[in-house]
Amino acid sequence: MRVSAVDATIDSFQTELLVVGVSSEQVPEQLKPIDDKLEGALGKAFKEVRDREQPFRLVSTSGKLPAKDILLLGLGEEINLEALRRVSGQAAKLARDVCGLTTFATVLHETTIPGTSVEERAQAVTEGVLLGSYQFLKYRTVDREKIKQLGDITLLGKGLDGAVERGTVLAECQNLVRDLANESPSVLTPEKLAEVAKETEKFGVKVTVYDKAKIEELGLTALLAVNRGSVQEPRFVIMKYNGGGSKKVALVGKGITFDSGGLDLKPPEAMLTMKHDMCGAGAVLGAVRALAMLKAKVNVVGVFAATDNMPGMDAYKPGDVVPTYSGKTIEVANTDAEGRVILADALAYTERKLTPDVMIDLATLTGACVVALGSVCAGVMGTDDSTIKRLIDSGNKTGERVWQLPFFREYHEQVKSDIADVRNLGQFRRESGAITAGTFLAAFVEKTPWAHIDIAGTSWSDREYGYTVKNGTGYGVRLLVHALESMQ
Ligand code: BES
Ligand code: ZN
Ligand code: ZN
Repeated sequence: MRVSAVDATIDSFQTELLVVGVSSEQVPEQLKPIDDKLEGALGKAFKEVRDREQPFRLVSTSGKLPAKDILLLGLGEEINLEALRRVSGQAAKLARDVCGLTTFATVLHETTIPGTSVEERAQAVTEGVLLGSYQFLKYRTVDREKIKQLGDITLLGKGLDGAVERGTVLAECQNLVRDLANESPSVLTPEKLAEVAKETEKFGVKVTVYDKAKIEELGLTALLAVNRGSVQEPRFVIMKYNGGGSKKVALVGKGITFDSGGLDLKPPEAMLTMKHDMCGAGAVLGAVRALAMLKAKVNVVGVFAATDNMPGMDAYKPGDVVPTYSGKTIEVANTDAEGRVILADALAYTERKLTPDVMIDLATLTGACVVALGSVCAGVMGTDDSTIKRLIDSGNKTGERVWQLPFFREYHEQVKSDIADVRNLGQFRRESGAITAGTFLAAFVEKTPWAHIDIAGTSWSDREYGYTVKNGTGYGVRLLVHALESMQ
Protein backbone atom coordinates (compact mmCIF):
# COMPACT_ATOMS: atom_id res chain seq x y z
CA MET A 1 0.00 0.00 0.00
CA ARG A 2 1.24 3.44 -0.88
CA VAL A 3 0.17 7.05 -0.46
CA SER A 4 1.23 9.55 -3.11
CA ALA A 5 0.52 13.16 -3.96
CA VAL A 6 -0.80 14.07 -7.39
CA ASP A 7 -1.07 17.56 -8.79
CA ALA A 8 -4.73 17.40 -9.80
CA THR A 9 -8.04 18.97 -8.82
CA ILE A 10 -11.31 17.50 -7.63
CA ASP A 11 -13.14 18.14 -10.86
CA SER A 12 -10.44 16.54 -13.01
CA PHE A 13 -9.28 13.50 -11.04
CA GLN A 14 -10.76 10.16 -11.89
CA THR A 15 -11.32 7.92 -8.88
CA GLU A 16 -13.81 5.48 -7.39
CA LEU A 17 -14.03 7.52 -4.21
CA LEU A 18 -13.08 11.00 -3.18
CA VAL A 19 -12.82 11.72 0.54
CA VAL A 20 -13.73 15.21 1.79
CA GLY A 21 -13.69 16.48 5.39
CA VAL A 22 -16.59 18.46 6.85
CA SER A 23 -15.86 21.08 9.48
CA SER A 24 -18.74 23.47 8.97
CA GLU A 25 -22.31 23.42 7.83
CA GLN A 26 -21.48 25.36 4.70
CA VAL A 27 -19.81 23.98 1.66
CA PRO A 28 -16.38 25.67 1.55
CA GLU A 29 -15.70 28.15 -1.26
CA GLN A 30 -13.40 25.82 -3.24
CA LEU A 31 -16.11 23.12 -3.35
CA LYS A 32 -18.93 25.43 -4.49
CA PRO A 33 -18.41 24.76 -8.23
CA ILE A 34 -18.61 21.02 -7.49
CA ASP A 35 -21.76 21.51 -5.47
CA ASP A 36 -23.28 23.42 -8.37
CA LYS A 37 -22.45 20.57 -10.71
CA LEU A 38 -24.11 18.17 -8.29
CA GLU A 39 -27.16 20.42 -8.00
CA GLY A 40 -26.74 21.10 -4.30
CA ALA A 41 -26.38 17.45 -3.25
CA LEU A 42 -23.09 18.25 -1.54
CA GLY A 43 -24.59 21.12 0.46
CA LYS A 44 -27.42 18.91 1.69
CA ALA A 45 -25.03 16.17 2.72
CA PHE A 46 -22.72 18.70 4.44
CA LYS A 47 -25.58 19.82 6.61
CA GLU A 48 -26.54 16.28 7.53
CA VAL A 49 -23.00 15.38 8.51
CA ARG A 50 -22.56 18.59 10.46
CA ASP A 51 -25.85 18.07 12.28
CA ARG A 52 -24.37 14.72 13.32
CA GLU A 53 -27.27 12.80 11.90
CA GLN A 54 -24.53 10.85 10.23
CA PRO A 55 -20.82 11.13 10.99
CA PHE A 56 -20.24 10.26 7.32
CA ARG A 57 -22.24 10.35 4.12
CA LEU A 58 -21.66 8.88 0.68
CA VAL A 59 -22.76 11.09 -2.22
CA SER A 60 -22.96 9.69 -5.74
CA THR A 61 -21.78 12.09 -8.44
CA SER A 62 -24.01 10.35 -11.05
CA GLY A 63 -21.44 10.82 -13.77
CA LYS A 64 -21.24 14.61 -13.32
CA LEU A 65 -17.67 14.37 -12.06
CA PRO A 66 -14.78 12.02 -12.91
CA ALA A 67 -14.94 10.88 -9.27
CA LYS A 68 -17.64 8.21 -8.89
CA ASP A 69 -18.61 8.85 -5.26
CA ILE A 70 -17.77 11.44 -2.64
CA LEU A 71 -17.36 10.38 0.97
CA LEU A 72 -18.04 13.22 3.38
CA LEU A 73 -16.62 12.77 6.86
CA GLY A 74 -17.38 14.95 9.88
CA LEU A 75 -14.23 16.24 11.58
CA GLY A 76 -15.91 16.57 14.97
CA GLU A 77 -15.85 19.42 17.47
CA GLU A 78 -12.12 19.81 17.94
CA ILE A 79 -10.60 20.52 14.57
CA ASN A 80 -6.88 19.92 14.75
CA LEU A 81 -4.25 17.68 13.18
CA GLU A 82 -5.30 14.74 15.34
CA ALA A 83 -8.88 15.07 14.06
CA LEU A 84 -7.46 14.90 10.55
CA ARG A 85 -5.46 11.76 11.38
CA ARG A 86 -8.50 10.10 12.94
CA VAL A 87 -10.82 10.93 10.08
CA SER A 88 -8.22 9.78 7.54
CA GLY A 89 -7.91 6.48 9.40
CA GLN A 90 -11.67 6.13 9.42
CA ALA A 91 -11.83 6.96 5.71
CA ALA A 92 -9.35 4.22 4.91
CA LYS A 93 -11.32 1.69 6.97
CA LEU A 94 -14.62 2.73 5.35
CA ALA A 95 -13.20 2.65 1.83
CA ARG A 96 -11.78 -0.83 2.38
CA ASP A 97 -14.37 -2.50 4.58
CA VAL A 98 -17.66 -0.80 3.66
CA CYS A 99 -17.10 0.30 0.07
CA GLY A 100 -14.87 -2.71 -0.72
CA LEU A 101 -12.38 -0.53 -2.61
CA THR A 102 -8.65 -0.92 -3.06
CA THR A 103 -8.04 2.72 -3.83
CA PHE A 104 -9.35 6.23 -3.12
CA ALA A 105 -8.34 9.88 -3.36
CA THR A 106 -8.58 12.55 -0.70
CA VAL A 107 -8.58 16.30 -0.19
CA LEU A 108 -8.87 16.04 3.60
CA HIS A 109 -5.66 18.05 3.99
CA GLU A 110 -7.40 21.01 2.38
CA THR A 111 -9.60 21.43 5.43
CA THR A 112 -8.91 24.73 7.19
CA ILE A 113 -7.14 24.22 10.51
CA PRO A 114 -5.85 27.45 12.03
CA GLY A 115 -2.11 27.49 12.72
CA THR A 116 -1.26 24.56 10.45
CA SER A 117 0.40 24.40 7.05
CA VAL A 118 -0.88 22.32 4.17
CA GLU A 119 2.30 20.19 4.48
CA GLU A 120 1.53 19.41 8.12
CA ARG A 121 -2.01 18.51 7.20
CA ALA A 122 -0.89 16.33 4.28
CA GLN A 123 1.52 14.55 6.64
CA ALA A 124 -1.27 13.99 9.17
CA VAL A 125 -3.60 12.60 6.49
CA THR A 126 -0.86 10.25 5.25
CA GLU A 127 -0.22 9.04 8.80
CA GLY A 128 -3.92 8.53 9.44
CA VAL A 129 -4.49 6.56 6.23
CA LEU A 130 -1.47 4.28 6.70
CA LEU A 131 -2.12 3.70 10.40
CA GLY A 132 -5.86 3.21 9.99
CA SER A 133 -5.45 0.62 7.25
CA TYR A 134 -2.91 -1.45 9.19
CA GLN A 135 -3.65 -5.18 9.40
CA PHE A 136 -1.63 -8.00 10.97
CA LEU A 137 -2.23 -10.73 8.40
CA LYS A 138 0.80 -12.96 8.85
CA TYR A 139 -1.09 -15.82 10.46
CA ARG A 140 -4.25 -15.73 8.33
CA THR A 141 -4.10 -18.73 6.01
CA VAL A 142 -7.74 -19.41 5.11
CA ASP A 143 -9.25 -17.51 2.16
CA ARG A 144 -6.34 -15.12 2.00
CA GLU A 145 -7.45 -13.91 -1.40
CA LYS A 146 -10.70 -12.68 0.11
CA ILE A 147 -8.94 -10.35 2.54
CA LYS A 148 -9.59 -6.76 1.55
CA GLN A 149 -6.49 -4.60 1.30
CA LEU A 150 -5.91 -1.07 0.08
CA GLY A 151 -3.46 -0.30 -2.72
CA ASP A 152 -2.69 3.20 -3.98
CA ILE A 153 -4.10 6.20 -2.17
CA THR A 154 -3.86 9.68 -3.68
CA LEU A 155 -3.64 13.10 -2.06
CA LEU A 156 -4.76 15.76 -4.48
CA GLY A 157 -2.52 18.82 -4.41
CA LYS A 158 0.72 20.44 -5.42
CA GLY A 159 4.10 20.22 -3.70
CA LEU A 160 3.08 17.64 -1.11
CA ASP A 161 5.63 14.92 -1.89
CA GLY A 162 7.91 15.73 1.05
CA ALA A 163 5.04 15.80 3.54
CA VAL A 164 3.64 12.51 2.24
CA GLU A 165 7.06 10.89 2.46
CA ARG A 166 7.54 12.08 6.03
CA GLY A 167 4.13 10.82 7.06
CA THR A 168 4.85 7.51 5.34
CA VAL A 169 8.13 6.96 7.20
CA LEU A 170 6.53 7.77 10.56
CA ALA A 171 3.50 5.56 9.98
CA GLU A 172 5.58 2.67 8.65
CA CYS A 173 7.89 2.79 11.66
CA GLN A 174 4.86 2.89 13.96
CA ASN A 175 3.35 -0.06 12.08
CA LEU A 176 6.59 -1.96 12.55
CA VAL A 177 6.19 -1.54 16.33
CA ARG A 178 2.62 -2.83 15.97
CA ASP A 179 3.95 -5.88 14.13
CA LEU A 180 6.42 -6.52 16.94
CA ALA A 181 3.72 -6.16 19.61
CA ASN A 182 1.34 -8.45 17.73
CA GLU A 183 3.89 -11.16 16.95
CA SER A 184 3.68 -14.42 18.92
CA PRO A 185 5.81 -14.13 22.03
CA SER A 186 7.35 -17.52 21.30
CA VAL A 187 8.57 -16.11 17.99
CA LEU A 188 9.57 -12.63 19.08
CA THR A 189 12.26 -13.68 21.55
CA PRO A 190 14.88 -11.22 22.84
CA GLU A 191 17.23 -12.58 20.18
CA LYS A 192 14.68 -11.86 17.43
CA LEU A 193 13.94 -8.38 18.75
CA ALA A 194 17.66 -7.62 18.66
CA GLU A 195 17.82 -8.90 15.07
CA VAL A 196 15.07 -6.47 14.07
CA ALA A 197 17.07 -3.67 15.70
CA LYS A 198 20.16 -4.81 13.81
CA GLU A 199 18.31 -4.40 10.49
CA THR A 200 18.25 -0.66 11.19
CA GLU A 201 21.94 -0.57 10.24
CA LYS A 202 20.85 -0.22 6.61
CA PHE A 203 19.63 3.29 7.44
CA GLY A 204 22.96 4.36 8.90
CA VAL A 205 22.40 3.36 12.53
CA LYS A 206 25.25 1.66 14.39
CA VAL A 207 23.72 -1.24 16.29
CA THR A 208 25.53 -3.21 18.99
CA VAL A 209 23.89 -6.38 20.33
CA TYR A 210 25.19 -7.92 23.55
CA ASP A 211 24.38 -11.58 24.19
CA LYS A 212 24.18 -13.29 27.58
CA ALA A 213 27.93 -13.86 27.93
CA LYS A 214 28.62 -10.22 27.17
CA ILE A 215 25.81 -9.08 29.50
CA GLU A 216 27.50 -11.09 32.26
CA GLU A 217 30.81 -9.48 31.44
CA LEU A 218 29.25 -6.00 31.52
CA GLY A 219 27.72 -6.77 34.92
CA LEU A 220 24.04 -6.17 34.06
CA THR A 221 23.10 -8.39 36.98
CA ALA A 222 19.54 -7.10 37.43
CA LEU A 223 18.72 -7.97 33.81
CA LEU A 224 20.27 -11.40 34.39
CA ALA A 225 18.18 -11.91 37.54
CA VAL A 226 14.91 -11.39 35.65
CA ASN A 227 16.16 -13.65 32.87
CA ARG A 228 16.88 -16.57 35.23
CA GLY A 229 13.40 -18.08 34.92
CA SER A 230 13.60 -18.27 31.15
CA VAL A 231 15.14 -20.63 28.64
CA GLN A 232 15.58 -17.72 26.22
CA GLU A 233 18.79 -15.72 26.44
CA PRO A 234 18.53 -11.98 27.16
CA ARG A 235 19.83 -9.27 24.87
CA PHE A 236 21.08 -5.76 25.51
CA VAL A 237 20.96 -3.49 22.48
CA ILE A 238 22.48 -0.10 21.73
CA MET A 239 21.47 1.81 18.58
CA LYS A 240 23.43 4.95 17.74
CA TYR A 241 22.40 7.47 15.15
CA ASN A 242 24.30 10.71 14.82
CA GLY A 243 22.65 13.15 12.46
CA GLY A 244 24.27 16.15 14.18
CA GLY A 245 22.53 18.40 16.65
CA SER A 246 23.56 19.97 19.90
CA LYS A 247 22.30 17.42 22.42
CA LYS A 248 22.83 13.71 22.78
CA VAL A 249 19.53 12.16 23.79
CA ALA A 250 19.25 8.60 25.08
CA LEU A 251 16.03 6.67 24.63
CA VAL A 252 15.78 3.65 26.92
CA GLY A 253 13.14 0.93 26.53
CA LYS A 254 11.67 -1.95 28.51
CA GLY A 255 11.84 -5.03 26.30
CA ILE A 256 10.02 -7.78 28.17
CA THR A 257 9.12 -10.08 25.28
CA PHE A 258 6.61 -11.89 27.48
CA ASP A 259 5.58 -11.09 31.05
CA SER A 260 4.10 -14.13 32.79
CA GLY A 261 4.70 -12.38 36.11
CA GLY A 262 7.41 -14.90 37.00
CA LEU A 263 6.84 -16.86 40.23
CA ASP A 264 4.29 -14.20 41.20
CA LEU A 265 2.36 -15.53 38.24
CA LYS A 266 -0.26 -13.31 36.64
CA PRO A 267 -3.87 -14.50 36.41
CA PRO A 268 -4.88 -15.62 32.87
CA GLU A 269 -6.77 -12.43 31.86
CA ALA A 270 -3.84 -10.23 32.86
CA MET A 271 -1.31 -12.49 31.15
CA LEU A 272 -3.19 -12.75 27.87
CA THR A 273 -1.83 -9.56 26.32
CA MET A 274 1.60 -9.63 27.90
CA LYS A 275 3.35 -10.23 24.61
CA HIS A 276 3.22 -6.46 24.20
CA ASP A 277 5.40 -5.85 27.27
CA MET A 278 8.25 -5.05 24.87
CA CYS A 279 6.55 -1.90 23.54
CA GLY A 280 9.00 0.45 25.29
CA ALA A 281 11.84 -1.23 23.41
CA GLY A 282 9.67 -1.24 20.29
CA ALA A 283 9.07 2.52 20.49
CA VAL A 284 12.80 3.15 20.96
CA LEU A 285 13.64 0.95 17.98
CA GLY A 286 10.91 2.53 15.84
CA ALA A 287 11.88 6.09 16.75
CA VAL A 288 15.60 5.61 16.06
CA ARG A 289 14.71 3.93 12.76
CA ALA A 290 12.39 6.80 11.78
CA LEU A 291 14.95 9.48 12.74
CA ALA A 292 17.59 7.75 10.63
CA MET A 293 15.23 7.27 7.67
CA LEU A 294 14.26 10.94 7.87
CA LYS A 295 17.93 11.90 8.14
CA ALA A 296 16.95 14.02 11.13
CA LYS A 297 19.59 16.36 12.51
CA VAL A 298 19.60 14.74 15.92
CA ASN A 299 22.09 12.84 17.97
CA VAL A 300 20.32 9.89 19.55
CA VAL A 301 21.22 6.65 21.23
CA GLY A 302 18.52 4.03 21.64
CA VAL A 303 19.04 1.40 24.32
CA PHE A 304 16.90 -1.53 25.32
CA ALA A 305 17.13 -4.51 27.61
CA ALA A 306 15.25 -7.57 26.41
CA THR A 307 14.24 -10.74 28.22
CA ASP A 308 11.04 -12.54 29.01
CA ASN A 309 9.82 -12.90 32.59
CA MET A 310 9.16 -16.58 33.22
CA PRO A 311 8.75 -18.83 36.27
CA GLY A 312 11.34 -21.46 35.24
CA MET A 313 13.19 -23.68 37.69
CA ASP A 314 15.90 -21.13 38.40
CA ALA A 315 13.59 -18.09 38.40
CA TYR A 316 14.40 -15.17 40.69
CA LYS A 317 12.26 -15.34 43.81
CA PRO A 318 10.18 -13.02 45.96
CA GLY A 319 12.49 -12.17 48.84
CA ASP A 320 15.67 -12.32 46.76
CA VAL A 321 18.07 -9.43 46.96
CA VAL A 322 19.45 -8.71 43.51
CA PRO A 323 22.69 -6.85 42.77
CA THR A 324 22.64 -4.31 39.94
CA TYR A 325 25.05 -2.70 37.49
CA SER A 326 24.96 0.52 39.52
CA GLY A 327 26.12 -1.23 42.69
CA LYS A 328 22.81 -0.68 44.46
CA THR A 329 20.82 -3.70 45.58
CA ILE A 330 17.14 -4.45 44.94
CA GLU A 331 14.80 -6.33 47.25
CA VAL A 332 12.48 -8.32 45.01
CA ALA A 333 9.14 -8.00 46.74
CA ASN A 334 7.26 -9.13 43.65
CA THR A 335 8.70 -10.86 40.59
CA ASP A 336 5.97 -9.29 38.43
CA ALA A 337 7.50 -5.83 38.97
CA GLU A 338 10.28 -6.95 36.63
CA GLY A 339 10.27 -4.01 34.19
CA ARG A 340 11.75 -1.62 36.73
CA VAL A 341 14.41 -4.22 37.61
CA ILE A 342 15.75 -4.49 34.06
CA LEU A 343 15.41 -0.72 33.55
CA ALA A 344 17.52 -0.16 36.67
CA ASP A 345 20.45 -1.65 34.76
CA ALA A 346 19.57 -0.13 31.39
CA LEU A 347 19.35 3.39 32.86
CA ALA A 348 22.48 3.14 35.00
CA TYR A 349 24.50 1.66 32.14
CA THR A 350 23.25 4.31 29.70
CA GLU A 351 24.09 7.15 32.05
CA ARG A 352 27.58 5.90 32.92
CA LYS A 353 28.76 4.51 29.61
CA LEU A 354 26.91 6.51 26.99
CA THR A 355 26.90 9.85 28.87
CA PRO A 356 23.82 11.42 27.25
CA ASP A 357 22.67 14.98 27.95
CA VAL A 358 19.10 13.78 28.50
CA MET A 359 17.51 10.36 29.07
CA ILE A 360 13.94 9.40 28.27
CA ASP A 361 12.72 5.92 29.09
CA LEU A 362 9.54 4.24 27.86
CA ALA A 363 8.01 1.23 29.52
CA THR A 364 4.76 -0.69 29.76
CA LEU A 365 5.51 -0.45 33.45
CA THR A 366 2.37 -0.57 35.58
CA GLY A 367 -1.24 -1.64 35.60
CA ALA A 368 -1.71 1.30 37.96
CA CYS A 369 -1.02 3.70 35.08
CA VAL A 370 -3.73 1.98 33.05
CA VAL A 371 -6.14 2.46 35.96
CA ALA A 372 -5.19 6.13 36.32
CA LEU A 373 -5.12 7.26 32.69
CA GLY A 374 -6.63 4.49 30.59
CA SER A 375 -5.55 4.43 26.97
CA VAL A 376 -6.09 8.15 26.33
CA CYS A 377 -2.59 9.26 27.30
CA ALA A 378 0.60 7.94 28.84
CA GLY A 379 1.97 8.98 32.24
CA VAL A 380 5.15 11.05 32.38
CA MET A 381 7.33 11.89 35.39
CA GLY A 382 10.98 12.46 36.17
CA THR A 383 13.63 14.94 37.15
CA ASP A 384 13.74 17.19 34.10
CA ASP A 385 10.84 19.58 33.81
CA SER A 386 11.92 21.03 30.48
CA THR A 387 12.00 17.58 28.83
CA ILE A 388 8.64 16.75 30.40
CA LYS A 389 7.17 19.99 29.04
CA ARG A 390 8.57 19.22 25.62
CA LEU A 391 7.06 15.74 25.69
CA ILE A 392 3.68 17.16 26.70
CA ASP A 393 3.87 19.65 23.84
CA SER A 394 4.95 17.01 21.30
CA GLY A 395 2.20 14.73 22.60
CA ASN A 396 -0.41 17.38 21.93
CA LYS A 397 0.92 17.93 18.41
CA THR A 398 1.24 14.27 17.44
CA GLY A 399 -1.86 12.99 19.23
CA GLU A 400 0.36 10.66 21.30
CA ARG A 401 -0.39 12.51 24.48
CA VAL A 402 1.29 12.33 27.88
CA TRP A 403 0.12 13.57 31.27
CA GLN A 404 2.49 14.48 34.07
CA LEU A 405 2.24 12.64 37.38
CA PRO A 406 3.65 14.10 40.63
CA PHE A 407 7.07 13.10 41.90
CA PHE A 408 7.07 14.35 45.50
CA ARG A 409 9.68 13.24 48.03
CA GLU A 410 7.12 11.16 49.93
CA TYR A 411 6.71 8.88 46.92
CA HIS A 412 10.47 8.31 46.73
CA GLU A 413 10.46 7.20 50.37
CA GLN A 414 7.92 4.50 49.57
CA VAL A 415 10.42 2.32 47.70
CA LYS A 416 12.88 2.07 50.59
CA SER A 417 13.73 -1.45 51.72
CA ASP A 418 14.55 -2.95 55.14
CA ILE A 419 17.07 -5.31 53.69
CA ALA A 420 18.40 -3.75 50.47
CA ASP A 421 18.86 -0.27 48.96
CA VAL A 422 15.52 -0.22 47.15
CA ARG A 423 12.44 -2.40 46.97
CA ASN A 424 10.67 -3.16 43.70
CA LEU A 425 7.25 -2.63 45.25
CA GLY A 426 5.82 0.49 46.90
CA GLN A 427 5.28 0.36 50.64
CA PHE A 428 1.51 0.68 50.28
CA ARG A 429 0.51 -2.04 47.83
CA ARG A 430 -2.55 -0.38 46.37
CA GLU A 431 -1.40 3.23 46.36
CA SER A 432 0.21 5.32 43.60
CA GLY A 433 1.69 2.34 41.77
CA ALA A 434 2.66 4.19 38.58
CA ILE A 435 4.52 6.85 40.57
CA THR A 436 6.35 4.51 42.93
CA ALA A 437 7.53 2.53 39.89
CA GLY A 438 8.91 5.84 38.59
CA THR A 439 10.58 6.73 41.89
CA PHE A 440 12.18 3.27 41.94
CA LEU A 441 13.74 4.09 38.55
CA ALA A 442 14.90 7.47 39.87
CA ALA A 443 17.16 5.61 42.31
CA PHE A 444 19.18 4.45 39.30
CA VAL A 445 19.63 7.83 37.64
CA GLU A 446 22.41 9.83 39.27
CA LYS A 447 22.52 13.25 37.66
CA THR A 448 21.37 13.14 34.05
CA PRO A 449 18.15 15.05 33.30
CA TRP A 450 15.59 12.29 32.88
CA ALA A 451 11.94 11.64 32.07
CA HIS A 452 10.06 8.36 32.34
CA ILE A 453 6.98 7.56 30.24
CA ASP A 454 4.67 4.79 31.41
CA ILE A 455 3.02 3.50 28.23
CA ALA A 456 1.17 0.54 29.78
CA GLY A 457 -2.23 1.98 28.86
CA THR A 458 -1.42 3.39 25.44
CA SER A 459 0.51 0.51 23.85
CA TRP A 460 -2.39 -1.86 23.44
CA SER A 461 -5.97 -1.25 22.39
CA ASP A 462 -9.01 -3.46 22.80
CA ARG A 463 -10.99 -0.98 20.73
CA GLU A 464 -10.95 0.16 17.16
CA TYR A 465 -11.33 3.92 16.51
CA GLY A 466 -9.95 6.60 14.21
CA TYR A 467 -6.55 5.38 13.04
CA THR A 468 -6.23 3.02 16.01
CA VAL A 469 -6.71 -0.65 15.34
CA LYS A 470 -7.14 -3.45 17.86
CA ASN A 471 -4.07 -4.86 19.65
CA GLY A 472 -0.63 -3.22 19.39
CA THR A 473 -0.88 0.54 18.80
CA GLY A 474 2.78 1.36 18.14
CA TYR A 475 2.47 4.34 20.50
CA GLY A 476 5.52 6.53 20.99
CA VAL A 477 7.34 6.64 17.66
CA ARG A 478 5.79 9.89 16.44
CA LEU A 479 5.93 11.43 19.91
CA LEU A 480 9.67 10.74 20.26
CA VAL A 481 10.58 11.85 16.75
CA HIS A 482 8.73 15.14 17.26
CA ALA A 483 10.22 15.72 20.72
CA LEU A 484 13.79 14.95 19.66
CA GLU A 485 13.62 17.09 16.55
CA SER A 486 12.32 20.02 18.56
CA MET A 487 15.02 19.59 21.22
CA GLN A 488 17.99 20.29 18.98
N1 BES B 1 3.94 -5.43 32.39
C1 BES B 1 3.29 -5.15 33.59
C2 BES B 1 2.46 -3.86 33.55
C3 BES B 1 1.33 -3.79 32.56
C4 BES B 1 0.03 -4.00 32.98
C5 BES B 1 1.55 -3.44 31.27
C6 BES B 1 -1.01 -3.90 32.08
C7 BES B 1 0.52 -3.33 30.36
C8 BES B 1 -0.77 -3.54 30.78
C9 BES B 1 4.29 -5.01 34.73
O1 BES B 1 5.45 -5.74 34.61
C10 BES B 1 3.60 -5.48 35.97
O2 BES B 1 3.25 -6.63 36.01
N2 BES B 1 3.41 -4.60 36.93
C11 BES B 1 2.75 -4.93 38.13
C12 BES B 1 3.51 -4.28 39.26
C13 BES B 1 3.08 -4.72 40.63
C14 BES B 1 3.46 -6.16 40.88
C15 BES B 1 3.75 -3.83 41.62
C16 BES B 1 1.33 -4.36 38.06
O3 BES B 1 1.14 -3.30 37.50
O4 BES B 1 0.42 -5.04 38.55
ZN1 ZN C 1 5.25 -7.74 35.37
ZN1 ZN D 1 6.03 -6.20 32.65
